[in-house]
Amino acid sequence: MDQAASKNRYPARVPLAIKPLGVLASLAVARRNLLALIPELVTHQPMVSGRTATRWHMVASPEALRIILKDRVENYPKSDVTKLILGPAIGDSLFVAEGAHWRWQRRAAAPAFAPRAVEALAPVMSAAAEAASARLRTAHGRASDIHAEMVTATYQVISDVTFTGGEGFDRAAIHRAIDSYIAQTAKLSLFDILGLPGWVPRPARLRSGTVVRSLKQLADAAIAARGQVAPHAVPDLLDLLTGAEDPETHRVMTPAELRDNLLTFIVAGHETTALTLAWALYLCAFDPVVQARARAEAQAVLGPRAATVADLSALPYIRQIIDESLRLYPPAGIVSRTAQAPDTLLGREIRAGDTVLLPFYALHRHHALWPDPDRFDPDRFQDPSRIDRFAFLPFGAGPRICIGASFALQEAVIILATLLARHRFAAVPGREPVPELILTLRPTGGIWLTVTPAF
Ligand code: HEM
Repeated sequence: MDQAASKNRYPARVPLAIKPLGVLASLAVARRNLLALIPELVTHQPMVSGRTATRWHMVASPEALRIILKDRVENYPKSDVTKLILGPAIGDSLFVAEGAHWRWQRRAAAPAFAPRAVEALAPVMSAAAEAASARLRTAHGRASDIHAEMVTATYQVISDVTFTGGEGFDRAAIHRAIDSYIAQTAKLSLFDILGLPGWVPRPARLRSGTVVRSLKQLADAAIAARGQVAPHAVPDLLDLLTGAEDPETHRVMTPAELRDNLLTFIVAGHETTALTLAWALYLCAFDPVVQARARAEAQAVLGPRAATVADLSALPYIRQIIDESLRLYPPAGIVSRTAQAPDTLLGREIRAGDTVLLPFYALHRHHALWPDPDRFDPDRFQDPSRIDRFAFLPFGAGPRICIGASFALQEAVIILATLLARHRFAAVPGREPVPELILTLRPTGGIWLTVTPAF
């Protein structure tokens, strides 16, 4: 197929590395885009191993992923790199803790993410959908950066459900601090994921950095302010975590643990969901037939109102689009683990200390698992029971699966359905986004779409 035809047929993708790269070449590529470090081979083979500074294995086999994430999960804790990057901002919180310290925090936070609790948060999501829709209306006829719009929408949701009422909570300041933290860490993470030697600057620098200090101060101030107000009728995340108690030990969170976990939810929760929505809208603009079908579904169910939690089961095609976006552009494009003890995976030797990379981006485009994998086709998810549980891992799996998965999916469906019912999205010629892995899988330069009324 010539380049122009293939361009039309497939949405934005990154050419993967054709041959394994040495340390210097890897560095050069990683400066541009970490995705390009994933060997093309990983989309054809179950596992590719190599050595940059440490021994590493990229695993794209459902069978081996089940072992790493579930069956022998204790042998594959989160990598030292993950801790180095995220620790300075979010401490030893749920996302990075291990063993007993992880377990009790997970148990304590679980009620906040139980189905009933997540459903109760839906009105906040519908309100954010309304607000995003109103902003887009003022931009009708012009090109808008949809990624930036979606970050605003999902940040509104996470800050509202974290601190209802916003007392003592400087939303804009926290958002700015998180953005600069991600920008700073991203540069380091590229090197650290490669397992490069000690001369590479380490995040220790960040620990004392003003960004992290101010982020923590802002969150502490918000938590302290909370002590002075009456409890809310519908408890928010801060209420739920403050009241959270380990059912076994009856331990509650210290103020520092509370703060680290709240920051975790804000950092882990809003950017990932914004990316899901932004890529979904990009894909709808890429394929107007899919967009028209989605709009017909959303308009029939919603009429002029915003989607609510009661509508979710009547919006199956919108949900399929979200799943297909998560397949093609998984916000957590790659995660990593460090092997603790020798093991054998698919007949290959794993040594203690080896880095085990789980490249979800490549798994989701694996030729043995997905027919014509780079093609956008939401109908792949018409019958989810036909998809191998360990072939589609946007939220991970096993005990460390994303605690916010149903929160994110509910939010994404509510916002996408509301926006598609009211607006039409079209690609801007010459502004094709480039997927780039910077902690999360982001569109370099934004996602520019022209928005017009749908009625
Ligand atoms: C589309 C949106 C989201 C995606 C794609 C996503 C993805 C992920 C993935 C892949 C993991 C596992 C990482 C690993 O195994 O190394 C994870 C863990 C986690 N996520 Fe999410 N996430 C999303 C939304 C959220 C939301 C909305 C929240 C909270 C409000 C959240 C909070 C967390 C936490 C706390 C963990 C760590 C859980 C643990 O280790 O026990 N995420 N997420």
